[in-house]
This record gives sequence, structure tokens and C-alpha cells, in this order.
Amino acid sequence: MEAMDEASVDMVFADPPYNLQLNGDLLRPNQTRVDGVAEPWDRFADFADYDQFTRDWLTAARRLLKPDGTLWVIGSYHNIYRVGAILQDLGFWILNDVIWRKRNPMPNFHGRRFTNAHETLIWCARGRQSRYRFNYEAMKNLNDDLQMRSDWMLPICTGAERLKLNGHKAHPTQKPEALLHRVILASTEVGDVVLDPFFGTGTTGAVAKKLGRHYIGLERAARYAKLARERLSKLGEAADASLLTTVSKRHQPRIPFGWLVERGLLAPGDILYDQRRRHSAKVRADGTLVSADFKGSIHQVGAYLQKAPVCNGWQFWCMEVEGKLVSIDVLRQQLRAQTH
Ligand SMILES: C[S@@+](CC[C@H](N)C(=O)[O-])C[C@H]1O[C@@H](n2cnc3c(N)ncnc32)[C@H](O)[C@@H]1O
Repeated sequence: MEAMDEASVDMVFADPPYNLQLNGDLLRPNQTRVDGVAEPWDRFADFADYDQFTRDWLTAARRLLKPDGTLWVIGSYHNIYRVGAILQDLGFWILNDVIWRKRNPMPNFHGRRFTNAHETLIWCARGRQSRYRFNYEAMKNLNDDLQMRSDWMLPICTGAERLKLNGHKAHPTQKPEALLHRVILASTEVGDVVLDPFFGTGTTGAVAKKLGRHYIGLERAARYAKLARERLSKLGEAADASLLTTVSKRHQPRIPFGWLVERGLLAPGDILYDQRRRHSAKVRADGTLVSADFKGSIHQVGAYLQKAPVCNGWQFWCMEVEGKLVSIDVLRQQLRAQTH
């Protein structure tokens, strides 16, 4: 990381060693061994040793981040509190802690604690003043048009996605692509550079590539680096950028209502109704509406009829199609698609 250019990456996703402090094998009640993380890279002499390691890589990551960049780090109760404190000490500004709730967690085999069913992601900006990217609309779309919350229910990495060698997991902590999909879609744009300093099997790279982002992956173990390279080389090109980007409503081109009349999607004299058919108004050639006793824009007439101070006419008015009411916003979307 020290060899890389300062302020050269837009986002860092890090899945560092968790310092699980496992002593010997963990056995199930039937004496079979749990396939846990018993690798040297997860071993540290003590908490002070782990803290020093954490400070070192976070300091290096902070140097590499652009001023408006963000950093995600994932961990469990073993390490995430220490990582969080160090992040704040180094000047990062925490934006969210996200709970990844696992649909299918490993049970607590001995019944001596609660099932550990989640991991925590900390999302932070490089600094308090950073004008960081958050793709609000993309997240809302992904969540069925509801604001995305900070608790994410996602399955762990299993099935065809899980890399295997001789029938065994090729890496003990491979993350699900769905998790990275959400992280990358939320906090980067097409063409951004994503850095993962603990690349493992290259999950971050795989998702970044599919979403049209650039990636840099650092991995110390040669066998994992090889796995990641093979995985990435099998992926094709990303889809067209227009399919990977969500233009926020604020930045969508304005479509005046009159254009719908001008282009023949509505005709002068057509009648519009509100969703409950309590109010109606006629379309005029200049893109205004006229009700029994009021004339004005779709917004003004909607507000007048409801005796409301304001009204979003695009949401208020519907047209009748084969006996059913359809929002005029559908016509606006059609026109946008034709225009751009
Ligand atoms: C928790 S795993 C990451 C797994 C990855 N997210 C995935 O989906 O495959 C951590 C990885 O960091 C690597 N690692 C540990 N210490 C490292 C270091 N100092 N530099 C580079 N890689 C390191 C380990 O070899 C391991 O593959």
C-alpha cells in the first residue's frame, strides 16, 4: 500500500483478519471438526499486536483514499469495537454501522452462548468534511422503493458461488457477492477505483468488475491470489454503463407536462382523474388543465381541487386506459426513455 499513489482510490472495502483467537479445533457434539478460521494470518500475539496491525493498515488506507472517499470494514464482536475506535482516532468519520444478519448462520454447537448470527460493517468517510457518495436512489430501488435500512438480511456464501478445492472450501471466509453488490452499488459510481487490501478469493474484485468499477486487490497468500486471479479471469465484460447507474430523481431531465400533449401521448380534451375519481380536469393544448372553475398547471389544478397548498401533479393525476386508471407519470417515464 505504501508503494501506491496518495489519494488514488475512491473506496476501500476491507475484510481484515478478525483475530478470532481460536484455541485448537472447535468440535461439534458428534466430534466432527468445524471448518473454522485456524490460519496463521488470523493469529496475533495479543490485543496490542492486533491494534498495531489495524492502525498500520488503516493509516495506509487513509493515505490512499481520495478526500471524498469512503471506507468499509467488516468484522465481528472479536475485533470490530477495536477497529471502530482506531478509525475514529485516525480521523475517519463514521457514517453507519451496518448489521449483516445471516439468513443461515452456523449454530452455537455447545449451547453456551447465543447463536452468533450477524457481522458488522462500519462505513466511514475519510474525514468529517468529506463530500462522500451515497447512491440513495439506487439503494431505495434495491429495497422495493423503501429507504434502505442499516440491517441487511443476506445469506452466507454457499452453493455454486463458494470456491472449492478437492471438495473443501478453498478459503475459510469467502464473503457473499450479494454483500459486496450492495456495498459497491451504494458508495461508488461506474469507473471508480475500489481497493480491497485483504482480497482473499477476490469477491470485491468480482463484483466491482460486474458493476463496471475498477479494482485493486492485495493478497499476501499466493494460493489465494491465484484463486482470485482465476476467478476474475473467467468474468466477462460489465453490462452497459446505463444499466449500472441510477440517476437520482434530482438529476433526471425535466419533462414538462406540455410535451406529453405536443408529442401526442395525450390529446386536448382528454380527461384526467385523481386516483379515487373524486376530481377530474380536461387537458388543454398548451399543457395546462382546466377543471369546472379553475385553470392552471397539473400541480396548480391538483392543489386547487384538494384545497391543498401544493400538489405534485405527476403523482396526483391519472388517465383512463381500457377502464383502468394509470398514473400520468408512466407517460413521463416513456418520454424520458425516448428522449435519452
Ligand atoms: C477475511 S479474509 C478476506 C476474504 C475475502 N473477503 C473473500 O471474500 O474471499 C482476509 C485475507 O487477508 C489476507 N491477509 C492477511 N494479512 C494480510 C496482509 N498483511 N496483507 C495482505 N493480505 C493479508 C489473508 O490471507 C486472507 O486471505
